[in-house]
Amino acid sequence: METLVVDHPLVAHKLTALRDANTDSPTFRRLADELVTLLAYEATRQVRVTEITVETPVAPAQGVRLAQPYPLVVPILRAGLGMLDGMTRLLPTAEVGFLGMVRNESTLKAETYATRLPEDLSGRQVYVVDPMLATGGTLAAAIEFLLDRGADDVTALCLLAAPEGIAHMDKVLAGIDKPIRLVTAALDERLNDQGYIVPGLGDAGDRLYG
Ligand code: PRP
Repeated sequence: METLVVDHPLVAHKLTALRDANTDSPTFRRLADELVTLLAYEATRQVRVTEITVETPVAPAQGVRLAQPYPLVVPILRAGLGMLDGMTRLLPTAEVGFLGMVRNESTLKAETYATRLPEDLSGRQVYVVDPMLATGGTLAAAIEFLLDRGADDVTALCLLAAPEGIAHMDKVLAGIDKPIRLVTAALDERLNDQGYIVPGLGDAGDRLYG
């Protein structure tokens, strides 16, 4: 898996405010939304395009437009919903599918409780959004699920990642001969005994939705 930690002062500024335990829920949602737009700019560097020509008022101009089939954006419920609008603002023609997954807080294993996705993802570029990559169990299972349905290019966007989670994903997804990328605003120090990212930002789902 190719991992990119976005190094940008605006990203760092917004992420610092997001981490602050004094940041209230409305502000947290707005900051998460703004951060996604900045991450999405980097994450869509390989988005597929088709070359076209348009007529300017002066002359023909070579350009591009997004290739079809359009990308699929998949938020992992529930916290990933806080990143959906930021993605679709940048990719307004994207289709949206949903994966409901929750981490069992005793076993730290991911459990899938809802799927609403196209059956056949052959040839599709997919963008998965979920704020936290902790043990990596949730995101690895989500990506395996999408690859099983035929997705051939998957980019995950997270606000925060833990080294343990990245190592887990590298292990689980090793040997898969398809592009898999991770774009994150920060790589934190570690996980604590409860599986929370340290220093992290707490429980993103709770801070977004209570
Ligand atoms: C959080 C987060 C990820 C997952 C990360 O969701 O949004 O989906 O945990 O943990 P992992 O990397 O150890 O699997 P949570 O299970 O709390 O559900 P929620 O989004 O409904 O709050």
